[in-house]
Amino acid sequence: MRVCVIGAGYVGLTTGTVLAEFGHEVYCIDRDEAKINLLNRGAIPIYEPGLTEMVMRNKKQKKLYFTTNTIEAVNKCPIILIAVGTPPCTDGSPNLTYLENVIDEISKYISSHKTIIIKSTVPPGTNEWVDEALHKKGLKRNLYDIVSNPEFLREGSAVSDMLHPDKIVVGVKRPEVIKTMQLLYQNINAPFIFTTLNGAEMIKYASNAFLATKISFMNEIARICDAYNVDIKDVALGLSTDPRIGSLFLNSGLGFGGSCFPKDLQALEHAAKQKNIIPEILIAVQNVNTTQINLYIDKLLQEFPSLKNKKITVWGLSFKPNTDDTRYSKALSLIEHLKTSGADIHAYDPIVTLNSSPPICHKDIYESIENTDALIIATEWDQFSKVDWKKVSELMRGNIVIDGRNFIEPYLLKRNNLKYIGVARP
Ligand code: UGA
Repeated sequence: MRVCVIGAGYVGLTTGTVLAEFGHEVYCIDRDEAKINLLNRGAIPIYEPGLTEMVMRNKKQKKLYFTTNTIEAVNKCPIILIAVGTPPCTDGSPNLTYLENVIDEISKYISSHKTIIIKSTVPPGTNEWVDEALHKKGLKRNLYDIVSNPEFLREGSAVSDMLHPDKIVVGVKRPEVIKTMQLLYQNINAPFIFTTLNGAEMIKYASNAFLATKISFMNEIARICDAYNVDIKDVALGLSTDPRIGSLFLNSGLGFGGSCFPKDLQALEHAAKQKNIIPEILIAVQNVNTTQINLYIDKLLQEFPSLKNKKITVWGLSFKPNTDDTRYSKALSLIEHLKTSGADIHAYDPIVTLNSSPPICHKDIYESIENTDALIIATEWDQFSKVDWKKVSELMRGNIVIDGRNFIEPYLLKRNNLKYIGVARP
């Protein structure tokens, strides 16, 4: 099938590339000419494991194209998949301008039937609005079908998530379009969940909100465990054996970041309030997430009543491992807190280097902790669990290591004269 993907961000690029891998002929469009030039030269603008090789392979096999030419791609392709960003506005609602612009533009070029698939995360009612907007622009309803097909890709494992999803959610207005969606995804072995346009939009928001709730719940339990000297890891293990709870997303720590959970919770809260519903749980989930960082700052202040001129090193800058994305990164919030304290802040991340200083970003992990008073691990990059703690201990001036992700074994530090500090890790 010929597919035109509009928006070559992490969702559009990954989805388009995997669809090409499945054998479809895919045209990825982005209005950012520099990005398209980069992709055409074989360089990938984001760090996503496995994506570069797959892009190169499919480009070479002439199944994947990158262009800024919307007219040509829309004309060629019966399937248009929209994956543009929906960043948050100041009131928490998502900014739908990019989507609106795309709808406006493609409406001018539609002369044969198009299946228009919206991948972007949008509030309930948006796909219905798109359907209505195209009609109001003079397009006959038999010229297009709108499909809401939210994505469930995690940054850092997006390629594998796209290849092996646990479900494919498809919201439709007319059942006739279901066949097209089944053909598009025929290489995927996962159940389809068919619903309405609003239903698919809600599944996406509810899914992210539920996962975020699990995290904030565990962070709240960690606060209580900390006060009672209970290891949160034991509690998580105890919970995980119950199939009604499940073992995933029970890791407590600095809280959730990234471009999805914080934005989607705000958007869902906003959507609820639009209908005069006060979403108490969603509000609490966000509050726990915002204040979680204070626990770690307090632990640091217990060690150093004043941080002035103390050298503090932060390991991990991205919002999670295996990505270069720093949007809503808890590491960056932590650094913002530290900046006001007069601390001398240093950082190391396997992929990310910040343009502005502080922090002073180091290219070498060991160099980053030379003469440091305290080390804070903000992201659970695999590399951090494999460091030589003896060397770390020798290089540091102080001995404080704060594990913001509960993923280092405390005994590894203790036997190297380092003081392990976590929340609810007695
Ligand atoms: C999330 C969802 O997991 C995807 O299903 C969804 O498609 C995506 O949002 C999206 O809406 O596009 P992502 O934000 O890439 O994916 O990353 P996650 O792995 O979900 O992690 C989000 C945050 O939660 C990270 O900051 C992570 O450190 C934190 N987290 C995760 C925890 O604090 N504890 C956990 O147990 C799990």
